[in-house]
Amino acid sequence: MRRWPAVWMAFSLVWMSGNAAGAPARTGRTEAEVGTWASSAREKLLLDFGWSFHLGDVCSIEGDQGYGAGEAFAKAGDATGAARPDFDDSSWRRLDLPHDWAVELEFVDVPNESVKDHGYKPVGRAFPKSSIGWYRRAFTVPKADEGLRLALEFEGVFRDAMVWFNGHYIGRNLSGYSGFGYDITDYVAFGRKNVLAVRVDASQYEGWFYEGAGIYRHVWLIKHAPLHIPPYGVFVAPQLEGASARIDIETRVRNEQDADVHCTVRSIVLDERGRTVADVASEPLSLGGRGETTVRQQAKVQEPLLWSLETPHLYKLVSLVESGGSAADRLETTFGIRSVRFDKDSGFFLNGKRVEIQGVCCHQDHAGVGSALPDRLQEYRIERLKEMGVTAYRTSHNPPTPELLDACDRLGMLVMDENRLMGGAPELAGQFARLVLRDRNHPSVIIWSLGNEEDTIQGTPVGERIAGSLKRIQRELDPTRLCTYAGNNGNEYRGINSVVDVRGINYIILGDPDAYHRDHPDQPVWGSEEASTLSTRGIYANDKDKGYMSDYDLNAPRWGATAEKWWPFYAVRPWLAGAFVWTGFDYRGEPTPYRWPCINSHFGIMDTCGFPKNNYYYYQSWWTGKDVLHLAPHWNWKGKEGQPIDVWCQSNCDTVELFLNGRSLGRKTMTPNSHLEWKVPYAPGVLEARGQRKGRTIVTRVETTGEPAAVRFEPDRAVIRADGEDLSVVNVSIVDAKGRTVPVADNLVRFEVSGDARIIGVGNGNPSSHEPDKCPAGSWQRRAFNGLCQVILQAGRVAGTIEISAASDGLKTAAAAIRSEKSQPRPFVGD
Ligand code: GAL
Repeated sequence: MRRWPAVWMAFSLVWMSGNAAGAPARTGRTEAEVGTWASSAREKLLLDFGWSFHLGDVCSIEGDQGYGAGEAFAKAGDATGAARPDFDDSSWRRLDLPHDWAVELEFVDVPNESVKDHGYKPVGRAFPKSSIGWYRRAFTVPKADEGLRLALEFEGVFRDAMVWFNGHYIGRNLSGYSGFGYDITDYVAFGRKNVLAVRVDASQYEGWFYEGAGIYRHVWLIKHAPLHIPPYGVFVAPQLEGASARIDIETRVRNEQDADVHCTVRSIVLDERGRTVADVASEPLSLGGRGETTVRQQAKVQEPLLWSLETPHLYKLVSLVESGGSAADRLETTFGIRSVRFDKDSGFFLNGKRVEIQGVCCHQDHAGVGSALPDRLQEYRIERLKEMGVTAYRTSHNPPTPELLDACDRLGMLVMDENRLMGGAPELAGQFARLVLRDRNHPSVIIWSLGNEEDTIQGTPVGERIAGSLKRIQRELDPTRLCTYAGNNGNEYRGINSVVDVRGINYIILGDPDAYHRDHPDQPVWGSEEASTLSTRGIYANDKDKGYMSDYDLNAPRWGATAEKWWPFYAVRPWLAGAFVWTGFDYRGEPTPYRWPCINSHFGIMDTCGFPKNNYYYYQSWWTGKDVLHLAPHWNWKGKEGQPIDVWCQSNCDTVELFLNGRSLGRKTMTPNSHLEWKVPYAPGVLEARGQRKGRTIVTRVETTGEPAAVRFEPDRAVIRADGEDLSVVNVSIVDAKGRTVPVADNLVRFEVSGDARIIGVGNGNPSSHEPDKCPAGSWQRRAFNGLCQVILQAGRVAGTIEISAASDGLKTAAAAIRSEKSQPRPFVGD
């Protein structure tokens, strides 16, 4: 009998384990050929659409929609106010999830560090009128569902969510980042309307960055037979063995009936084409009433297609619990076959090949939508990072949205999956356990991070003990991976750093990594956080009043470094596995070094929309094999004629020659991992760079543009799915009469949409913009910032043409047609 960590007891997911040996079955058929695989009672329905929402006021019982009135926790089913099923919410707002109400609020200039760190939004204890959100959703459960088990799954709510179902208090989840769920079968009214109510209390912060507020990730209604695989009940652990892979599979099976049942667990592995590559069935097992067991099986996949960054091949495990000749339960788990290894002397290896960790840390918000990202936006962001040469993503500093990991699996991105607050007692240890259980099947996840910069405990015996407890949980739930920790305590080894497998250095400048490596030669090391370089896209001088930092690679806080300072250090030390830049994208909150009117961080290599800053091209030069030749700044310096302008060239060319209006300003030779610079007296016209790379000539130019003349659209995709969720991320530029982006333009652009689609957010990457990211229907608008802004368009469910237009005073209007194609929406809960 295997013992499960005590932390399980705390949230009553007590696993009992048994064992049933696997027996091979036939392979080679497709799923379609074996129709029975599909039939089981399980349904996973999206519960995102058609919620009612109200911003509560915690100062009074009435304002808090009746919360706190009477004796709501005295008797079962006796909820008060909005938690009652018969509460009249007809005056509330209707909305769809994911939803972040913080992004909808106006910015407030109050001298409070936490408010500043959270992006100057009025959420927190100081704002009782805008920190409680009530959500309600009514839906019918068909009579035919009687006999099934029903459960709710919340992927993440910020934060402190109290849940009532049909007036019964169901439970509470404090964490703003951990997924949670409840079996609600006891409370369901079959054949009738049921009412779900959630009170979300965002008045307490968890981080020192923008965190959003509300049900900002998906909610699901799950139905399954009483004999089923419980949450997180499948663990697939592939091991490469020569030319084949051994797939260790653990499947938990739970019998939620009083009677004994007999069943078998069948595990079928399908390749990307849907063909069976392994099929194992357990010996028949008998499960007592209300019993639970774990079945351990082994499958073999011959000559597997490995998951890698270039070709992220995925497999699908179909887990079937068969009983009485049919499938009682059927669950699909996506996984990948790959090997990962950290070497103390030579870094990180994927499938036996060294891969440099060219990483970024990211928070989860994006322009326009705050922390409520539709799935396609997760993918959009990972695509932008991959284009730059990023190989690894750190989910700083919290459990990520599951769909982010799905995107990393599909696109080929390594992930350092990070815990939020460190603690060994049940609540916090339980959050970490849930993270490991939820994410351990993702091939993208290569390591668990126990935490970040826990200044109070990191070098202490308490820190050591907590890290030890978390590491034990991790090893128990996932023995296939290692753990790390992001420490900003230089060369200190005692405490947390002495426990973790891979030492994470936050900022080389805070210690002496060479000495650390010398003193602790057996511990692999990487940079869990580096850079914190400060820059604002398209700005070329620091400006305290406006809250902007220059887009040359010149500025970093005391603990950070410019790109060109930290990367060359790592590039020449193979024992360092690489590092994660703070950050991939700008994020709301933590404005540094300035504060109001600046409401954003400047740390991103891209801005909040994903528009590249100049350092993007530095990293792309040295992190990819692509030809890169990029000139900065722009060449619109009216009034500076004759004055010297610093021209930077980010490139991986061997030599670059610069020309102004056809006149050579000299050829320079590139030192690897650096850039080239010229001082050029300004004259309007054309600045051109001609680079030589591997014997080829590459040319780029920046030109003095004319005045703004038109708006231009660049949708990331012109064809999207009419599934009610898909997006087109439409990038907008202000161009001159010749179609060149005007790099200083800040025109106000107004958007209109026709067809079955809606705008869900606008942004422009300006860290000091106080314009709304959410506008009232019919009046969407945004100013361009240094020539660019972004509008995020979401498809409805009716296929057809979506017309979007952008008008700006005095400019030619832009119009684009996006086709939304008929597509089966994901199964969702209707009314
Ligand atoms: C780090 C910290 C990050 C962020 C960053 C800003 O020390 O881990 O969360 O605050 O500094 O430079």
